Amino acid sequence: MALLNRSDWYDIARDTEWTPSYISKEELFPSGHSGGDGIPDEMWCTYDEPYKITYSEYVRTQREKDAGAYSVKAALERTDMYNRADPGWISVLKEHYGAVPVVEYAAGLQESRYVRWGQAPGMRNMGTFGMLDEIRHAQAQLYFAHEYVNKDRQFDWAHQAMKTNNWGVLAARHFFDDMLMSRDAISTSIMANFAFETAFTNLQFIGLTADAVNAGDHTFAKLIQSIQSDEARHAQLGTPLVTMLLESGQKAKAQRLIDIALWRSWRLFGVLTGLPMDYYVPLENRERSFKEFMEEWVIDQFARSLDDLGLEKPWYWDILLRDLSEHHHGQQLGTWSWRPTLWWSPAAGVSPDERDWLEEKYPGWNDTFGRCWDVLTENLVNDNEDKTIPGTLPIICNVSNLPIVGTPNTHLHDYSLEFNGRLYHFGSEVDRWIFQQDPDRYSAHKNLIDRFLSGEIEPMDLGGVLAYMGIGVLSDGGGDAHKYQWAENYRQKAAA
Ligand SMILES: [Fe+2]
Ligand SMILES: [Fe+2]
Repeated sequence: MALLNRSDWYDIARDTEWTPSYISKEELFPSGHSGGDGIPDEMWCTYDEPYKITYSEYVRTQREKDAGAYSVKAALERTDMYNRADPGWISVLKEHYGAVPVVEYAAGLQESRYVRWGQAPGMRNMGTFGMLDEIRHAQAQLYFAHEYVNKDRQFDWAHQAMKTNNWGVLAARHFFDDMLMSRDAISTSIMANFAFETAFTNLQFIGLTADAVNAGDHTFAKLIQSIQSDEARHAQLGTPLVTMLLESGQKAKAQRLIDIALWRSWRLFGVLTGLPMDYYVPLENRERSFKEFMEEWVIDQFARSLDDLGLEKPWYWDILLRDLSEHHHGQQLGTWSWRPTLWWSPAAGVSPDERDWLEEKYPGWNDTFGRCWDVLTENLVNDNEDKTIPGTLPIICNVSNLPIVGTPNTHLHDYSLEFNGRLYHFGSEVDRWIFQQDPDRYSAHKNLIDRFLSGEIEPMDLGGVLAYMGIGVLSDGGGDAHKYQWAENYRQKAAA
C-alpha cells in the first residue's frame, strides 16, 4: 500500500482541535496554567512548531540514539577507564551525575504540562516528544552512573542528591523549581526551552564532550552528545511563543522572563560547568576555558538569537561580561574550601602549570584569586590542612542559594534588601532585581543559613549541618581530589 508523505497529511492530522461546549475556554485552559493572557485565540492557530516529526519517526530515531550510547558503554566497559582516569575527571562525573539526571526528570514534568495546557496542537504534540526526551535523559544518566556505585559511594548521589538538602542541591532545586515547575506553560517554555536550553545546555553537553573525548571517557562523551541532540530539537519549542508575545504587544513580559532565566542559569552553570572546565578537567585535556565557551555559546550566539527575534540584550549585560571572569573562580575557592560539604571531591586545579593556564585565560587571576590560593597552599605546605577548611558558614544568596562570592580585594559585595521585616542577601544586583520582580514567589524560601539560624538544623554545629545535607549519610563528603599531590611542587620549592 502506498504511504503518503508526512508533509501531505501532518498538518491536518495534528490539528485535532475543537471548540469546547461543556465548559468554557477559560476553564479548559486556565491562565495560571496556560499563561495565554493577552494572546488572541486566532493567534494560537498560527503556532507552527519549528520541527515536525511523527511518533513512528521519533521512536525509530530515539531507539538508534539509545542503541548508539548503550553499545559504546558496553563495548568500553572492559577498558577500565575509571581506574585509569585522572581523579579530577572522576570528580567531573560525580558532580554531573548528582546534579543532572533527576533534573532531567523534572524537565519531563515540565514538558508534560505543554501536553495538557498548551493551547496550540503543535505545542502539545512537540511537548509530548520533549517529555519523552527528558525521561530518556533521566533514565540513561541514572543507568550510566550506576556502573560506578560499587567503586565509590559518592556515585549514589546520582539517584539521591535531589532528595537531599545539600547546599548545592538547594541551589539547583530552587532554580529549577522556579523555572521548570512553577510557571505557566508559556513562561516556562520561554525560560527553560528558549533561554536555558538554547543558551546553556550546550555548555555542559557539547563543551564537556570535547573534554571527555580528550580525557579518554568516550562513554560519557557519547551519552551527553546523544542527550544534546534532543535538547537542540526541543529547545526550539519556546521560539514561536516568544514571537506570539511580541506580536500581541507583550515584549516586556518576554524580555523579563528571558532576563531572569538567563541570569539564574548563568550563576548555576558557573558552578556546574565552570568548575569542571577550568579546574577539574586535567590540564592536558582541556579544550577551551569556560569563559571561551560562554563567549561562543551565550555572548555571541544567544545574543544573536535575541537580536533576530527583536529582543534586547538583558539590562545587566555589562555585569554578565565582568562576571565571566569572576563568579566561578570565587565559587571554586568556596567549594574547594568547604569540600567536606560536597558529594564529590573537588580538584584544586592550582598546580604551577595550572596557575599559568589560569593567568593566561584570565589575566590578573594570580593577583586576585591566586592570592587566596597562596594562603591555602602555604597552609598545606606547612602541614596545616585544618586551616584550609573554614569553621564557619558562608553568607548565601536568597535567590541563587549559592555562597556570595566575588573577586578578592576588588569586587565583593552583599546586596541586601529588607522586605516585610526580613533582611535578604543577594550575590549580585541582578539576583536582587529578580527577587524584586516577584517577592511573593521568593520571600518565603529559607536558604541553608536561614534554616541554620532559625534552629531547623540540629545539633547546631558543623556535624549537624553535614548530616542535614546528607553528608556522612549517603556517602562521605569530599576531600581534595588529588590528595594534595599538586601541593608537592610548592613544598619542594619551599624546602629548597
Ligand atoms: Fe534533557
Ligand atoms: Fe531539555
